[in-house]
Order: sequence, then C-alpha cells, then structure tokens
Amino acid sequence: MPTRTLADVLQSEDKSLRKLVSLLADLSMQIVAEIPRALGTTEGTNIYGDRQTELDVWSNELLTKKLVKSGLVSQVASEEMDEPLEGSHGEYSVVLDPLDGSSNIKTDNLVGTIVGIFHDEKLPAKGRNLLCSLYFLYGPYIQGTLATREGVFLSVAAGKGAGSERFLTSGEPHRLPEKGSVYGIGGLREKWTPQVREFADRLEKRKLKLRYGGSFVGDYNQVLYNGGFFSYPALLDAPNGKYRLQFESNPIGFITEKAGGRASTGMQNVLDLEPTDIAQRVPTYLGNRDLVSEFEDLVKGASQRIVQG
Ligand code: F6P
Ligand code: MN
Repeated sequence: MPTRTLADVLQSEDKSLRKLVSLLADLSMQIVAEIPRALGTTEGTNIYGDRQTELDVWSNELLTKKLVKSGLVSQVASEEMDEPLEGSHGEYSVVLDPLDGSSNIKTDNLVGTIVGIFHDEKLPAKGRNLLCSLYFLYGPYIQGTLATREGVFLSVAAGKGAGSERFLTSGEPHRLPEKGSVYGIGGLREKWTPQVREFADRLEKRKLKLRYGGSFVGDYNQVLYNGGFFSYPALLDAPNGKYRLQFESNPIGFITEKAGGRASTGMQNVLDLEPTDIAQRVPTYLGNRDLVSEFEDLVKGASQRIVQG
C-alpha cells in the first residue's frame, strides 16, 4: 500500500517548486471536476487550426491565470496561446498542454494535462534544461506522473490531503520494463514513411500488442507501464508530425528518459533539439531504449541512402 505522497517525493526540492507542483495538482482536480459540465464546443480555432472544445479554453485560462498569479513563475506558455504570458518575479517557466487528447472527451476516453517546468529559462527552451515534468491522466482514476532528477514517480489521487498531498505513491522510482509489450503509432497508415511501416511490421512480428486511442497521455501511459514503443511519426505530408516540441514532446520525452527509455526525433534525442519557435512540431518516437535506437537506425540508414543517392 502506498504510504507516501507526491509532496513527500518532493521533500528535498526547493519550497517554491513544491508549492508549484502542489498548485498544479490542485488545478488538475478542478479540471477533472469540470469535464462533465462542459461537453459542448465553441467556434474558436487555436493557432494550429484544431477545433477547441470549451474545456480546452477553460482549462487553459484556469491554469495560466493561476500560474501567473502564483508569484512562482516568470513565464507560462501553452499550446492554446500564440505567445507566452509573463508572470511576476517568479523563478520558474512553465509549458502546458492544458487538455491533451481533448477530442476524446465526447467519447469519454482518456485526456490529461501535460506540464514542463524550467528554472530560470526563457521560453522556448531546450528539453534538456527541464527541471521536472509531469502529466495528470484523467482516467478511471486520476494519475499524477512526475519526473524529477531522482526519477519517475507514479501516483494516484486517492488521499485525503490537498494539492500534491492528495496524490499517493509508493515513492519508488518507476522504470520501463526491460522488455516492451505494447506499441502505438499515430497518423494515417497510408501517410507513414516506409521506415515507420517497416518498424510497425517488426513490432507485430515480435508480438507487441497495438494500443492506440488517440490520446497522447493515455496511449503513452500504456508504454510507460508495459514497456514498448509510442510515436506520432513524421508523415509523408507532414514531415514534422503533429506534436509540439515545447508542450508535448519535451515534457514526455523527459519522463521517458528518467524512466530509463529514449525520446528521439528519428535523428537525435528530442531533449537536445534546439527550439526555433514556441509552436514548433517535431516527429516523436518514445519508449524502450533498444526499440527507439533500432528505429533511429532505420531512419538514419534511409537518409544516408538518400544522401549517397
Ligand atoms: O495533442 C494532439 C493529440 O490529441 C494527441 O493527444 C493524440 O496523440 C493525437 O492528437 C491524436 O492524433 P490523431 O487523431 O491524428 O491520431
Ligand atoms: Mn496534446
């Protein structure tokens, strides 16, 4: 039985970081409570052209306003906004995907909130400089996944306390199982590159089971528990894939590395990619080290053949 909380896991961190994570934990609970109340859609579109649900807008406003007001952050950037917001005199910069997978709401499938936290960094920032990252998964139970320098801690919102004290954990860092058993790859199959097709065939032959629900946090969580491979790949008509480097690929890439896995763009580690702009997209391949490296070899081999042409 878990006897510790996310607050305990953060005991050795600065008080201000503990406060920030606790605030985020509280806000995640407010978002969950709001979901059944707001199932309609607005007419708005975000800067990427996705249709926003009311909850995207609402969650974004809730998170950004509370963070700016907290006195803990100097900048907040979100997938739902064109530009970062400036906070007052805080030491952290926060990147957010307020409601990842929001198209799953109407079918009552998985959604979540992704957060990356930097110390003294200007946004957009390099994933390697993340101080910690986390996601809250709104499923049959609410899970908080937190990666710090110490590792990845899985927790469940089942305690009586508030903020991060509500999230119960064993306190043992979680590692990806050595042998992966599931995989998921986004995008239309007919738009996959030959390397992605080839790799999916290999995974099937090795009996990894396909798990894909169209929610990054939900699908990724299966790989974090069971080991395997998850990707939103480069597509023939979208070479940079779909995920935003700042708001999705970096925070989840950081969690993957801290759990002993790898996060790659196909050519290099996601976390080492120099950001060019806040809305940048990047092909994203995550999971067990052996699998991600094997896929990278396929991509690098193909690009060498093109160069040698
Ligand atoms: O944030 C984008 C997102 O909603 C992810 O949560 C999810 O992995 C992806 O889009 C699903 O995309 P598609 O509908 O193309 O499979
Ligand atoms: Mn998302």
